[in-house]
Amino acid sequence: MGRIIAISNHKGGVGKTTTVVNLAAGLASFNRKVLAVDLDPQANLTFSFGISKVETSVYDALKGNAPLPIIKVKENLDITPSSLDLAGAEMELNAEAGREYIFKELIEPVRDKYDYILVDCPPSLGLLTINAFTAADEIIIPIQAHFLAIKGLTKILEVISKVKRRLNPKVEITGVIITLYDRRKVLHRDVEETIKTYFQDKVYNTKIRENIALAEAPAQGQDIFQYQASSRGAEDYYNLTLEFLARHEPDFDYELVEK
Ligand SMILES: Nc1ncnc2c1ncn2[C@@H]1O[C@H](COP(=O)(O)OP(=O)(O)OP(=O)(O)O)[C@@H](O)[C@H]1O
Ligand SMILES: [Mg+2]
Repeated sequence: MGRIIAISNHKGGVGKTTTVVNLAAGLASFNRKVLAVDLDPQANLTFSFGISKVETSVYDALKGNAPLPIIKVKENLDITPSSLDLAGAEMELNAEAGREYIFKELIEPVRDKYDYILVDCPPSLGLLTINAFTAADEIIIPIQAHFLAIKGLTKILEVISKVKRRLNPKVEITGVIITLYDRRKVLHRDVEETIKTYFQDKVYNTKIRENIALAEAPAQGQDIFQYQASSRGAEDYYNLTLEFLARHEPDFDYELVEK
């Protein structure tokens, strides 16, 4: 049964979508069956996979007007797309009975078809994110290496603990990924230490460095391995994929690419 993993941080621009795109592509290249779900009305994940026109989006399904849409991106990798014109859907869902469970109800029936289901959350802690947390087995938080990064985290931790108490007792934060990292900056190393004090071994050893190719790839509708396999971004997301697999599959044996 596929593990459902919400990638979330209510702070914007910390690399959630970039992580879903490239971790999904990395896992698919290791022959794991992956579904990437775009639960963000910005639809950045959908665009990043080169999909610009969406007939049925995840919101049509959330509103009960369609089955969960699933589009094949490539071998082992499917996506459930979002679309821009449905940005108001979150409000509409507020009136639904059991509104926190709508996504769970949709995703459970397809779970068996995948090894990993990665859910890209919007930069908020609204109903869509709560739906992701309610369906999820795990939550992974990307954190930008920035001195204010820790400050806002209390809020997401509070929400996760409420979801655990009221909606989904099994959900856990299993990972924290440091993104947009530049090791030449002393500040970044300090921030890394602070993050580790908070989250200890949940923090991935692999840090995602700043790399322009990661910002360029989405415009081509490509993941980093297709766009520039020799880039630092590709190296980091390859290593992240290995570490993710080692953390999730105890038999998985690997060696990191040299940095
Ligand atoms: N390691 C990186 N190096 C350089 N640019 C990056 C890196 N990671 C992400 N970016 C760029 O930074 C911007 C924000 O990244 P991304 O969209 O992944 O963040 P997000 O957390 O999903 O944002 P939002 O909260 O708006 O959904 C994007 O333009 C992306 O291409
Ligand atoms: Mg995003």
